[in-house]
Amino acid sequence: MLLGTQGSATPHHAPVGHLDRTSLVPTHHIHDVDGAERADHGYDLHPGALAATPIADEFDRLGVFHPRRVRAEVGDRIPDPVVWGRQDSRYGYAWHRATCDNMRVSIYLDHAATTPMRPETWEAMAPFAGDTFGNPSGVHGVSRAAKNALETARETIAAIIGARPLEVVFTSGGTESDNLAIKGAVLSNTPRQGMVTSAVEHEAVLETADFLKRLGLPVTIVGVDSEARVDPDEVAAAVTEDTSVVSVMMVNNETGTVQDIRAISDAVKSGSPETLIHSDAVQAFGCETVDVDDLGLDLLTISAHKFGGPKGSGILYVRDGTALEPVIHGGGQELGRRSGTHDVAAAVGIATAAEAASRDRERFETEVRGIRDRLEQRLVQDVGGVVVNSPVTGRSSHHLNVRFPGIRNETLLMLLDQHGVAASAGSACQSGAATVSHVLEAMGLTPDQARESVRFTFGWTSTMDEADEAASIVESIVSRLS
Ligand SMILES: Cc1ncc(COP(=O)(O)O)c(C=O)c1O
Repeated sequence: MLLGTQGSATPHHAPVGHLDRTSLVPTHHIHDVDGAERADHGYDLHPGALAATPIADEFDRLGVFHPRRVRAEVGDRIPDPVVWGRQDSRYGYAWHRATCDNMRVSIYLDHAATTPMRPETWEAMAPFAGDTFGNPSGVHGVSRAAKNALETARETIAAIIGARPLEVVFTSGGTESDNLAIKGAVLSNTPRQGMVTSAVEHEAVLETADFLKRLGLPVTIVGVDSEARVDPDEVAAAVTEDTSVVSVMMVNNETGTVQDIRAISDAVKSGSPETLIHSDAVQAFGCETVDVDDLGLDLLTISAHKFGGPKGSGILYVRDGTALEPVIHGGGQELGRRSGTHDVAAAVGIATAAEAASRDRERFETEVRGIRDRLEQRLVQDVGGVVVNSPVTGRSSHHLNVRFPGIRNETLLMLLDQHGVAASAGSACQSGAATVSHVLEAMGLTPDQARESVRFTFGWTSTMDEADEAASIVESIVSRLS
């Protein structure tokens, strides 16, 4: 039985192409959700949807091309994923989730790896790749426009994180900021040269810790519980008179576990006020409130491409008065803390994206959490034996790490990719090959269990439909593999 929209081409969905009964492209369609039928008024076509309105348009009113490969009569079940586009009413532009080339629905569930750039970010950046090309360090008018933009970007970011503008250092991203925070603190002129961190940090922190260890400096790595959470008292207990810096991330990139940074700072500072507190907030910014005073931080890392900004752009917040040895020496830009000609476009990009992400934070917290929860609920209900690795409480709104017992994540990820779903193992080496996650191992999973785990992460473009489609696709793949 068909519901609702059969034969009703509303103005919103009016066909702009010509009708061609031999190459029907259904635009209105019915979802088959758990045996119940639900009308969908979108432009999307789903495998398993029922064709309700036969419309053949080569280009719809958004300019999205609908290939004429799909042949469906009213009531036909749409066989395979097909190309589609939709209007995103929130942002008012057509968001292409698939290209005509690969003929696949593309559901991007890897926002923790990187996010699509927000349109306003690119718009704000573009002039600095064109007419406003000046070097902000110059003394003439061409430079002044660039310098003004750079300092405005600095003020914007500072206001968002509760800092002063001169406490913001522009860097090339999260990796550089983490390196500068830790090496800079340890190598600065203090007698303290040690570091304390946790077992579940990003490689940017753990590899830096390893480097310090190889230099013969004291490094302590604190373990976590089964939810990847560190105990603030354990961190404080690991701090000695040698400890220059404590570095604990705010949100874990694989599980979404939120650490109590304020409690860690308080516990450490009460016994060792000179020890600096650094937090990698790369996965937190955009979903958690990030205020350096509330969190009790001396150093804070943010990376633009995780919240709709450009890749290769980050900041390190450095509390006023903090001694920090630079790791990049040169022309003395950024008050000597980070030399190198400024990438003004990147600075404008991170500031614009940060503003947009801050404005969007409350919606993100509720809506994206709801979308994430939908996928989680459907996987737990519909796919046998699924184990959720992410914590139930104290988790960011956009992470979901789950284990599919008996199925290798590489296999699942490959099949998901073939069905147009982009997810990840949470941990991949440079070649892209899945490695055993150090985070899941630190939580107590065996290497085999870690290899059965997949990370789905959501972001500012995610929709409930994507969660539903992804759930159905995972379910069908897993039932074939089991
Ligand atoms: C927690 C965390 N820290 C640091 C980084 C590195 O940031 P970037 O890619 O900007 O170098 C990432 C990137 O995945 C991350 O998730």
